[in-house]
Amino acid sequence: MNPQDRINELTDRLNHYNYQYYQNSISEVDDYTFDKLLEELVDLEKNHPSFRRSDSPTLRVGGTISKEFATVYHRFPMLSLGNTYSETDLIEFDVRVRKGLDGADYEYVCELKFDGVALSMTYENGVLVQGATRGDGVRGDDITHNVRTIRTIPLKVADPHVPALFEVRGEGFLPTAEFERINREREDIGEPLLANPRNAASGTFKLQDSSLVAKRRLDCFLYSFLSEPEVFKTHEESLQAMKRWGFNVSQSWRKCTSILEVMDYIREWETGRYELPLATDGIVIKVNSYDQQRQLGFTAKSPRWAIAYKYKALAASTTLNSVSYQVGRTGAVTPVANLTPVLLAGTVVRRASLHNSNEIQRLGVMLHDTVFIEKGGEIIPKVTGVDLGNRTDASRPIVYPTECPACGTALIRQEGEAHFYCPNEKGCPPQRQARFEHFIQRRAMNIESLGEGKIELLIDRGLVKSPADLYELTFGQLFGLEKKFTDEETGKTRVVSFKQKTVDNILNAIERSKAQPFRNVLFALGIRYVGNTIAEKLADYFGSLDDLMAAPYETLITAPEVGDRIARSLVAWFADSENRVYVERLRLAGLQMSQERKVVEKKGDTLSGKTFLYTGTFTNFSREELEREIDAHGGKLVSGVSKKLSYLIVGENAGPSKVEKAQNLGVPMIGEDEFLAMLTV
Ligand code: IVH
Repeated sequence: MNPQDRINELTDRLNHYNYQYYQNSISEVDDYTFDKLLEELVDLEKNHPSFRRSDSPTLRVGGTISKEFATVYHRFPMLSLGNTYSETDLIEFDVRVRKGLDGADYEYVCELKFDGVALSMTYENGVLVQGATRGDGVRGDDITHNVRTIRTIPLKVADPHVPALFEVRGEGFLPTAEFERINREREDIGEPLLANPRNAASGTFKLQDSSLVAKRRLDCFLYSFLSEPEVFKTHEESLQAMKRWGFNVSQSWRKCTSILEVMDYIREWETGRYELPLATDGIVIKVNSYDQQRQLGFTAKSPRWAIAYKYKALAASTTLNSVSYQVGRTGAVTPVANLTPVLLAGTVVRRASLHNSNEIQRLGVMLHDTVFIEKGGEIIPKVTGVDLGNRTDASRPIVYPTECPACGTALIRQEGEAHFYCPNEKGCPPQRQARFEHFIQRRAMNIESLGEGKIELLIDRGLVKSPADLYELTFGQLFGLEKKFTDEETGKTRVVSFKQKTVDNILNAIERSKAQPFRNVLFALGIRYVGNTIAEKLADYFGSLDDLMAAPYETLITAPEVGDRIARSLVAWFADSENRVYVERLRLAGLQMSQERKVVEKKGDTLSGKTFLYTGTFTNFSREELEREIDAHGGKLVSGVSKKLSYLIVGENAGPSKVEKAQNLGVPMIGEDEFLAMLTV
């Protein structure tokens, strides 16, 4: 097949898989096959750039570095909405609408008010040509490269009947599950955690390297369609058409024929909204007919045909009865407040987060105090303050434990860390449970059918101690197992039982996991600081577990992105004989312990023995290209400025802290041209 035909075929096929996956939740191929096809397309496009299509799925992988986002003017200004907080305000809004429409009939469309980042996407002849932020409403930033990485935003609309030029608007967001995944990964590698999904989304959209954006699976709910001339008569029609054309329209909207129906909608979603994949802070009410919208017009800042109803800040006060201490997957201990049950946002709250011992001090909270709790963007309520006026003689100081509440080991706190840790990684029950959960996750061994209490049951019955035991489980051991779990929070019970089909599914998933590539196995081992990305780099670089295990510290730190901290962690992990036995058992079970090495083609050794770090953006290279060049010429990329660093390569918009540190330590700084010159001498 000639390259152009193959490019077309791959583009169509991959776009079809993406569509099925993101719009219909159907996986027609496994990740591995998908990645292979995508790789083939990337290669073909590299050799035949003129055949790359404007809807190529490779555009979603990112790779473009924008030094600075260009400013773009919005064709139609991006306005904001008036806010109301009470039903009285809403009724007043309805009266204004009725008056403005001279008593004619009208309908509303209610939607949720998504708490993310407003985005605007422009399509020309069905092709996505621009993605922009709201900015000041008149002009925003051109973030097209970042927007293209959002899998649910079509790069090309298949229906030929779409207007030649149109714009869709919506709210870009980081799904809660994705936010938690990123934070778990950051925790794995010891990076500071992202504060909340909204800030994380807005920070991600501003990243200059779109390949980093692509790694965080952003999403977007669309809520407006704009074209000239208009093609729809109502907002409802536009939502239906956008959905048909493959845009991600949240199905939470509803048409209402009176303000009373709007109030029903508000009440229904007051609690229902917590089931959605993102935070919402209210609802938006829009007059349905476009003619009527025009008739009502705008004030200076916002439309008269729409309004936002904000849910009240969800706060309550109650008594703090005691504090429990939970041990997380890395051994971090988190204090949790046990409260006298109180109704908050339609649910009974019995527990709330206290974060860490510093937070307890900051709040000055004592046992038996009356405390304020709030439900914010996060799902778990938190204690936000103490009602000091209500403090009585019964209040007692909170004594932070010095031993692990789960296993009794003395807790430790590293300098600069907010959390206390239980260092008993292997023996501490919650840490063991977490190790299993890490092992079975999709990006590791993908045995997720073992979730939801099943692992706990297996550990409980003594059937598994280490994840390697999973590979020895038999049908007879599993069939018929049953346990009742009581949710501490809600008091509800749930039965986990291993019926014939469940057992078959689990055993099949365990068997299939043996084919998971080596990089997944390496990640599954749960070595501290070896997150997904590092596992992949190590697998590519060393090619097998044997070579990785045999590598001394000095060799480990020559691997891309591996610095002192990761190298030490690897050495310590493999030096532990229990870990060695664990790995051998996994090998015997048939897990993949090697893969093809992906070593960068050597171009020379002009940089041999030198270490590099870069900051800012460059004209001739993307970050990845720069890293590849360093590697290909025998140099080594490191992760921080130290006295030993040979060169800091400084680009545009360089980070001031790195530059300052390099200056202080006397590390030579070079520009892009000097770096280029070094490659050839
Ligand atoms: S419509 C002229 N619908 O709220 C009105 N906005 O204050 C155009 N938002 O910047 C906006 N969910 O980012 C609309 N379902 C929804 C929304 C929504 C969230 C945000 C949007 C906008 C802000 C308005």
